[in-house]
Amino acid sequence: MATMSATSIFFSAIAIMLLSTTIAAESSASGGGKPKVTNFMVEACKNASMKNKIYDPNPITQEFCVSTLMLDNRSAEAKDLHSLIHIAIDILKGQVAAANGNVKQMLQDTKNGTATMRALSYCMVDYDRMVSILNICDTMIKEYHGRKGGANDGLLSSELPACVERVDKPFIDCWLGLLAMEAKKLLDENFAVGMSVTLNFCLASTI
Ligand SMILES: *[C@@H]1O[C@H](CO)[C@@H](O)[C@H](O)[C@H]1NC(C)=O
Ligand SMILES: *[C@@H]1O[C@H](CO)[C@@H](O)[C@H](O)[C@H]1NC(C)=O
Ligand SMILES: *[C@@H]1O[C@H](CO)[C@@H](O)[C@H](O)[C@H]1NC(C)=O
Repeated sequence: MATMSATSIFFSAIAIMLLSTTIAAESSASGGGKPKVTNFMVEACKNASMKNKIYDPNPITQEFCVSTLMLDNRSAEAKDLHSLIHIAIDILKGQVAAANGNVKQMLQDTKNGTATMRALSYCMVDYDRMVSILNICDTMIKEYHGRKGGANDGLLSSELPACVERVDKPFIDCWLGLLAMEAKKLLDENFAVGMSVTLNFCLASTI
């Protein structure tokens, strides 16, 4: 129950911030030599945008997907979904690392023994946990070559989105802690991470 209501608060916050995140993604993408958009990226993103959860009030759009993938110039070279998802996971891991760096920075300026200090410490552990889980998903995507039949014959395609979904718990835990301390910048970064998690889930669901 607690998680359910927390999730709905989170999703209502998404609507307000979606626009600014998209703008941020676009401006940083155009920073270092504009990566090109390929038909493959557009098609993969179109398919991904059809994999949104039915109850998600702020679904991933094809445009958001493309602008996020453009953050990494390797996306233009991707010829199959495996490479594209690997890149999307890398982008997400980079966003988590950046967000975590700023949590760590704030922790250094926070007095010991305070509730803020504890929330930040938990959040760092949550972000680390997200990266550990994403590393497992990344290994899965590298090893996945389609299932041929037998029960022990590699992984089911549904296992990949299920792996990505596991980051939801630490993500929401960190978000709740940051929400309580009203740390605007850290919350904005946390929000961007959340959108990227959803994108990874949708892309992984297209395999
Ligand atoms: C997108 O979905 C269509 C229809 O299922 C499929 O034929 C196509 O290969 C998919 N494209 C990508 C890039 O995943
Ligand atoms: C991608 O960008 C990096 C620097 O960000 C650059 O070193 C590399 O050559 C670029 N690769 C392509 C294929 O454009
Ligand atoms: C805060 O606690 C840590 C761990 O106990 C300690 O190493 C550090 O010196 C303390 N910092 C301050 C400013 O008291």
